[in-house]
Amino acid sequence: MLVLAVATSFLLGSAYGRPSNRGLLPYLDVCHQIAGAISDASDVYFPGQLLYLKGVDHWMSSSDQNSACVVEPGIAEDVGVILGIVGSTQTPFAVRGGGHTGNAGYSSTEGVHISMFRFSEVTYDENAQTATIGTGLVWDDVYTALAPHNVNVVGGRVTGVGVAGFTLGGGFSWLTNQHGLTIDTLTSFELVKPDGEVATVTQSSDSDLFWAMKGGLNNYGIVTSFMLKTFPQGQVWGGLITYTANVLDDVANATAKFSAEVTDPKAAIITSANFLLAEPGVSQLLFYDGPTPPDGIFDDFLAIPHFTKDVSTRSFVSLVQAAPSNATAGQRGAFNTAPVQTLSAGVVKAMFNESLFWGSRLQFDTGSFISYDIEPFLPSHLSHNNSPSAWPPTRDVAYLPECLYFAWISPLHDDTFHDAMTQSVEQIQRVAIAEGQQGIDTAPPYTNYALFDVPVELIYGDSLPLMRSVKARVDPDNVMGLAGGIKI
Ligand SMILES: Cc1cc2nc3c(=O)[nH]c(=O)nc-3n(C[C@H](O)[C@H](O)[C@H](O)COP(=O)(O)OP(=O)(O)OC[C@H]3O[C@@H](n4cnc5c(N)ncnc54)[C@H](O)[C@@H]3O)c2cc1C
Ligand SMILES: *[C@@H]1O[C@H](CO)[C@@H](O)[C@H](O)[C@H]1NC(C)=O
Ligand SMILES: *[C@@H]1O[C@H](CO)[C@@H](O)[C@H](O)[C@H]1NC(C)=O
Ligand SMILES: *[C@@H]1O[C@H](CO)[C@@H](O)[C@H](O)[C@H]1NC(C)=O
Repeated sequence: MLVLAVATSFLLGSAYGRPSNRGLLPYLDVCHQIAGAISDASDVYFPGQLLYLKGVDHWMSSSDQNSACVVEPGIAEDVGVILGIVGSTQTPFAVRGGGHTGNAGYSSTEGVHISMFRFSEVTYDENAQTATIGTGLVWDDVYTALAPHNVNVVGGRVTGVGVAGFTLGGGFSWLTNQHGLTIDTLTSFELVKPDGEVATVTQSSDSDLFWAMKGGLNNYGIVTSFMLKTFPQGQVWGGLITYTANVLDDVANATAKFSAEVTDPKAAIITSANFLLAEPGVSQLLFYDGPTPPDGIFDDFLAIPHFTKDVSTRSFVSLVQAAPSNATAGQRGAFNTAPVQTLSAGVVKAMFNESLFWGSRLQFDTGSFISYDIEPFLPSHLSHNNSPSAWPPTRDVAYLPECLYFAWISPLHDDTFHDAMTQSVEQIQRVAIAEGQQGIDTAPPYTNYALFDVPVELIYGDSLPLMRSVKARVDPDNVMGLAGGIKI
């Protein structure tokens, strides 16, 4: 499946988003140059090798590209050597953390593909109440490593998501209502700058760069580790309930009511309005940060007749792994986002309606899964930061990062899905605006959910001028411009 997907995307070039094939030969020379320059801690893999396939793999096959080689650096100094070589030879490259981006070219390339797997340590500092985590990890590993210490960090909500891209883009967690975005809990980065310098970046070492990297993704260099604040973590309650088509209206009502009425920051949900195998349905995730939720919070969801139910008191990682995560893994896919101010009943119902509308329509274009993640957060969720961040460009209004996820089979339909996801966001926002929700048309889309052609001006807004001046200082030759992603 993966091999086939790689082969077709290679043959078809770049139907979905990204650059044309300039031929791999010159890049192969660069790969050999890197192999000769790095230390024993690092390796280079070529097509045909097993670790090459592991290195270029993504959660969505449409984010895969054929690369000349995969480099697995083992130490930060080698990352600097690699950046020096790709920069001086002007070779396109990619940096991959957990490979969960939905956009081709963001962590894939025809040139030198850098996979960060070897940066895989979790170090807990009990005195400082911080954890240093490598950028090759996925959140499951981090939670598992911290659980014996009864602490946790603010990270991903479902299994398999990478810490690197997630954190560098912002990070919405089950713990966000209590502690903010993942970037709001960062105390430092280890950054390999484009000139090869390995730097510890903190608020006091370089406040502008620290600010710019919080949301600035791969624009400033390659991050090898994050230091995050830790918080006490015990057993949690929740899991997954699925519902069938006959109760969609009840679930929509319960979701809007939860969003309007629940103020306990330990409670969170994701309601996914899905269209799967020609059938509408819902995947309902419930979360409470404690062994038993207070009465009232989740009663409506528990009272609706379900199809399946896996809800219990459990460890944090067990809850994360209870989410449906990979029924569509390996298919083509994309995310997009419709920021809204509130999840009124009207907006929630519009998202359910969109899933029915596009689900039934796109099944004839090899659409396999059409999903709208309705994610309420408290209006106070952006108030937990000690220092400012580049994204979101304003915290005056805490827009909610509603997420679309569409999956499909055939690369011939890439454009159809792109257009549908763009139109659907417009429709949801039209409904919100008609209700009087203010500022939606200029609300900053969430970096990690936005389709590749969402304008960078919209995403970063008023942060852009300072982000650009920091960029000119840290990366004057725009080495990081050789890697894809949201470019400032
Ligand atoms: C199933 C699923 C669930 C998700 N759940 C959530 C969620 O709960 N909350 C949320 O906020 N988001 C969520 N997301 C979105 C997620 O944040 C993005 O997909 C993000 O890109 C994942 O990071 P990654 O490291 O896996 O991605 P990658 O594809 O590896 O990287 C994404 C971007 O980060 C850059 N990057 C990666 N590593 C580095 C590095 N070391 N240094 C510099 N740049 C780097 C890449 O170049 C690329 O541009 C989810 C996505 C999926 C597919
Ligand atoms: C959902 O809420 C609306 C508005 O309050 C109400 O008219 C409708 O009957 C509710 N639907 C269900 C299934 O309870
Ligand atoms: C999905 O997850 C299951 C359980 O973790 C795993 O066995 C399976 O290989 C995964 N499938 C894909 C396509 O990644
Ligand atoms: C459902 O969605 C479609 C497509 O966006 C739209 O044209 C239609 O008006 C919507 N219907 C309702 C009842 O909202």
